[in-house]
Amino acid sequence: MQEKIEQLKVKILEAVKSVNSSKELHETKMKFLGKTGEVSDLLKGMREVPKEERPAVGKIINDLRVWAEGVFDEIEEKIKKIELEARYKAEAIDVTLPGKKTATGAYHPNTLVKNELISIFSGMGFEIFEGPEIENDYYNFTALNTPADHPARDMQDTFYITEDLLLRTQTSAGQIRVMENKKPPIKILSPGKVYRSDDDATHSPMFSQMEGLVVDEGVTLCDLKGMLDEFAKKIFGENVKTRLRPSYFPFTEPSVEVDVSCFECGGKGCRLCKGTGWIEVLGAGMVNRHVLEGCGVDPDKYSGFAFGMGIERIAMLKYGINNMKLLFEGDVRFLKQFKD
Ligand code: PHE
Repeated sequence: MQEKIEQLKVKILEAVKSVNSSKELHETKMKFLGKTGEVSDLLKGMREVPKEERPAVGKIINDLRVWAEGVFDEIEEKIKKIELEARYKAEAIDVTLPGKKTATGAYHPNTLVKNELISIFSGMGFEIFEGPEIENDYYNFTALNTPADHPARDMQDTFYITEDLLLRTQTSAGQIRVMENKKPPIKILSPGKVYRSDDDATHSPMFSQMEGLVVDEGVTLCDLKGMLDEFAKKIFGENVKTRLRPSYFPFTEPSVEVDVSCFECGGKGCRLCKGTGWIEVLGAGMVNRHVLEGCGVDPDKYSGFAFGMGIERIAMLKYGINNMKLLFEGDVRFLKQFKD
């Protein structure tokens, strides 16, 4: 038996020498120590051993098992180490490689201007109100002092949905919705899309406006001028001046057209200002007392001013965009250029 065991030991040591992987190690281990392995076979042979010798033989075989397990454990540790090294090598990451670029978007110039306007006016205490794009005739025209037979209706070619419903032609419709629902003091800013059946090089059937409305006791045209001065400096530059020209809107009286001094040439005259030194940026005026009355606001107690501007127009001026179509085409090569 002793001899058999010694032979088996040699055999195990031999077998272990050629083991190169965990898998091979497991197979070899099973060959000797598994249920049907050679060491187990020895135990099976115990039946032939005389009874009195069995404990001693059993001990020898058991010692062999313990010894063999020790051998396999040792090898296992070595192999694991080697395999781990190999895995580290295979999975190594070169942290010095440049990263993959993720494409990031950019804000549309309209959004940039809208956000800037909101930031400027909310700094002056304005709140945002967004009215519906589908309006009825009353809010878009009648309540704005433009009844059915009023010639000013022709100022804006309207998309009608039904006889009474239309796509709003101006964010001014929101003025009425606000005044109907809120008591003065009122200070709102209302951005949104508007629609007119115009389509040429300088007009799009859909464009964006920003409306402002202030109603309180003692509000004057002077307040409007002062506030617009401040706004023009913030958006076009510190040296920009504003001027008011008389104009006409049915819902304001007096009505004005607001120009800013050309920020490109400083007022000397250039292509941007068409040689005049001034650029028209918005329409405004004192809220017509009929409009106030119609909304239940006492025109003898309160007065207000309103202004409205085209966001695309401001964006074109501010970013030097010479073709309005660019703002509607969504070409990423164009849009990419406008990072905050
Ligand atoms: N709603 C006018 C327009 O679309 C602009 C405007 C707004 C004028 C507010 C005066 C006051 O042309």
